[in-house]
Amino acid sequence: MTTAINNILQKDALDRNDLITLLTATAPADIELIRSAAEKTLLAKCGNKVFYRGLIEFSNLCVCDCDYCGIRKSNHSVNRYTLSKDEIIAAAKWCAEQGYGSVVLQSGERRDAAFTDFLEDVIAEIKSATASEKLPNGAGITLSVGEQEPQSYERFYKAGAHRYLLRIEASDPKLFASIHPQDQSQERRIDCLKTLRQIGYQVGTGVMIGIPGQTAENLADDVLFFRDMDVDMIGMGPYIVHNATPMGVYAGYYNESKDRIFQTALLMIAVCRLALKDVNIASTTALQAMRDDGRELGLRYGANVIMPQTTPVDVRRDYLLYEGKPCIDEDAAHCRTCLEMRIRSVGREVAVDDWGDSKKALRKSKSNNNKNNMEGTMPIVMIMEGPPPLRGEPYPTL
Ligand code: 5AD
Repeated sequence: MTTAINNILQKDALDRNDLITLLTATAPADIELIRSAAEKTLLAKCGNKVFYRGLIEFSNLCVCDCDYCGIRKSNHSVNRYTLSKDEIIAAAKWCAEQGYGSVVLQSGERRDAAFTDFLEDVIAEIKSATASEKLPNGAGITLSVGEQEPQSYERFYKAGAHRYLLRIEASDPKLFASIHPQDQSQERRIDCLKTLRQIGYQVGTGVMIGIPGQTAENLADDVLFFRDMDVDMIGMGPYIVHNATPMGVYAGYYNESKDRIFQTALLMIAVCRLALKDVNIASTTALQAMRDDGRELGLRYGANVIMPQTTPVDVRRDYLLYEGKPCIDEDAAHCRTCLEMRIRSVGREVAVDDWGDSKKALRKSKSNNNKNNMEGTMPIVMIMEGPPPLRGEPYPTL
């Protein structure tokens, strides 16, 4: 296999078969070849710097009912909170003072007028409160507040947010439908991604890795979806079971598949780096939830963004999308020192006072030609066991 992998790694443009071969590598020597090629591409295309975005999970109120997510609206055991404007500004100011050039404002989904007004106001205030000599235009703001009306996206953009994360979760329509209620449509989500791009946001998307029934072919198609949507950023992570959700019935599958899910999540980072070259890729908290050194490993497989936890500690344990989330007790200052050590341990450097836009976004703002060809066909390769939880069919019971 090593020769086949080596041949693929020599290519500049990867086709679908190549993606599948890389994503299904299991021999340690093959995995190391892929990892080191991805790291090399990262260093050549993006450099050695790791960009921070201080993560502020400002509300866990949510109108959605995603089958995997711990803060879904039907989970009545969640203690719901929304931070005050002052609390959010204080967290953002702290980030800017630490040299974090950017923040991510993340919350459950709400589309009511009060929410839109509140967030618009918060964005504008963060911009002025964080402007300094070091950051003349204030902190960079990435939003992650789900599907919104185009007018709301526009208002947030005008108020000063310039990047937006909206995961597609699964690009395969059937797989998407299998983990969402019927009224949450994949088409609408794709429309949102297009609208965000039209407005002028740098756009990020991503998927969960290890969804029951997901195949290597699905993951290869996810990478092609990222390419076709021409995204600037990728945020992906392993699926982690949450017991108080309909997909809690997959606890057995999850426990048996953990190692494979984790390794596949790392390979997805590497493959996205090899295929998409100069996008920003986050090494997400979910990786660390599975393994203490998960985020460092994400960096070694080609990621270049980390989102240090800066949500106030007293509400952090109420924002549990999945079980085993790390750092829920550490204060932000502790998270910072701990992370810096982890980043240095893998030979990388933290960027200071830098918005950390992807090289791709910077390049695109200059010119506008980037498409490489990744077509091809391949029979479906199952990598995730367990029946796909197709909507309409009852979930298996334990
Ligand atoms: N496991 C892993 N990731 C999850 N998310 C939500 N629930 C889970 C889970 N159980 C991710 C989704 C969402 C992001 C904010 O968190 O991909 O887009």
